[in-house]
Amino acid sequence: MKKALKIIGISLGALIAILIILALYVNFNTPTYEIKKVAVNIPSPDSSTLAHGKRLTALMCAGCHLNNGTLEGKKMMEIPAMFGDIYAQNISSHPTKGIGRYTDEELVYFLRTGVKRNGEYSFIMSGHPLMSDRDLNAIIAFLRSDDPMMTASEKTQYPTKPSFFVKLLSNFVFKPHPFPEKEIITPPKSNQLAYGKYLADDLLGCFGCHSADFTKVDPMVPENTPGFYAGGSTILDPNDQSPVLSSNLTPHETGLKGWTLEQFSDAVKFGKRPDGNFMTAAMPPRPQLTDEELAAIWSYLQTIPAIDNEVVQARAQ
Ligand code: HEC
Ligand code: HEC
Repeated sequence: MKKALKIIGISLGALIAILIILALYVNFNTPTYEIKKVAVNIPSPDSSTLAHGKRLTALMCAGCHLNNGTLEGKKMMEIPAMFGDIYAQNISSHPTKGIGRYTDEELVYFLRTGVKRNGEYSFIMSGHPLMSDRDLNAIIAFLRSDDPMMTASEKTQYPTKPSFFVKLLSNFVFKPHPFPEKEIITPPKSNQLAYGKYLADDLLGCFGCHSADFTKVDPMVPENTPGFYAGGSTILDPNDQSPVLSSNLTPHETGLKGWTLEQFSDAVKFGKRPDGNFMTAAMPPRPQLTDEELAAIWSYLQTIPAIDNEVVQARAQ
């Protein structure tokens, strides 16, 4: 009897020791990845490329990085605490504190794969592996321009502090995206469905927030993401940190079935709901989107599988 107790005691002790060692390992080990040399050729931009780059930067980067009129970065108040303290970094034109610390090659590699120039994978800005080369190059051309949005800021951002949960995922689950092997072409606007899918999934990443779980988003094969576009993941209202659930955008009664293109456009462009009320800042308005783009996204959303998921907000709207 005594012997059995002793064995159980020793086993338990060993188990606890292993768990402690594992926890320490996860806490202090940040995996790093090789930064492959990639051939990058950003053509010197004409004014229409710069305008395109500016619009994409406003749509895709400014929400997190814009502060005081420049892309100096800020603390992201909309990320739930379980992910840690997240700071969008200074990507203004400052030579050492801003985007100047990145070469074009490093920027392309980071924006594709999610691997930062220090070799760490950024779980929060995890990359756009399927964005077209044309769109990516236009963004980079804009980031190198002297537009007022790029005004050099001296601000030193706090580094992002991932939670233990994120460190655990970083050690065992998250992996950088593979760098594309050949050029990615923007689908022609004449192919409305392909164009809409490209915009919603590959460029703007609407499904990232509008699926079941942030940690299970699959940017390589978006439709493999659990609860694809059926909503339910929690974002915080950046104004008061109250939790807001993302909406079901699938063509189901509990989603957008019955909505018109006009109602959809008002919601995405201006944050206005069909009943006239405005959404929370957890879904920032996107006034930059054109009618053609919204119509394409809308057509595409009609074709995804309808999923029954009634999203019930915890707070009164
Ligand atoms: C969802 C919010 C969000 C969006 C959208 C976003 N970023 Fe970021 N960005 C961050 C955060 C947070 C960090 C810090 C990440 C980290 O340290 O892991 C960051 C870091 C960076 C960095 C620096 C990485 C480093 O080495 O510290 C660059 C460059 C960058 N972003 C560029 C961009 C560009 C260009 C876009 C638009 C295509 C963009 N970001 C869109 C949140 C965002
Ligand atoms: C940062 C996360 C996030 C991203 C990215 C995002 N959304 Fe949302 N969206 C939300 C949240 C949260 C709500 C609910 C807001 C509320 O109820 O106040 C919402 C609401 C909506 C609604 C209203 C639906 C309804 O039933 O009321 C539409 C339409 C919508 N989003 C479309 C889009 C489209 C299209 C994109 C891509 C261009 C997109 N969203 C990207 C978080 C996001």
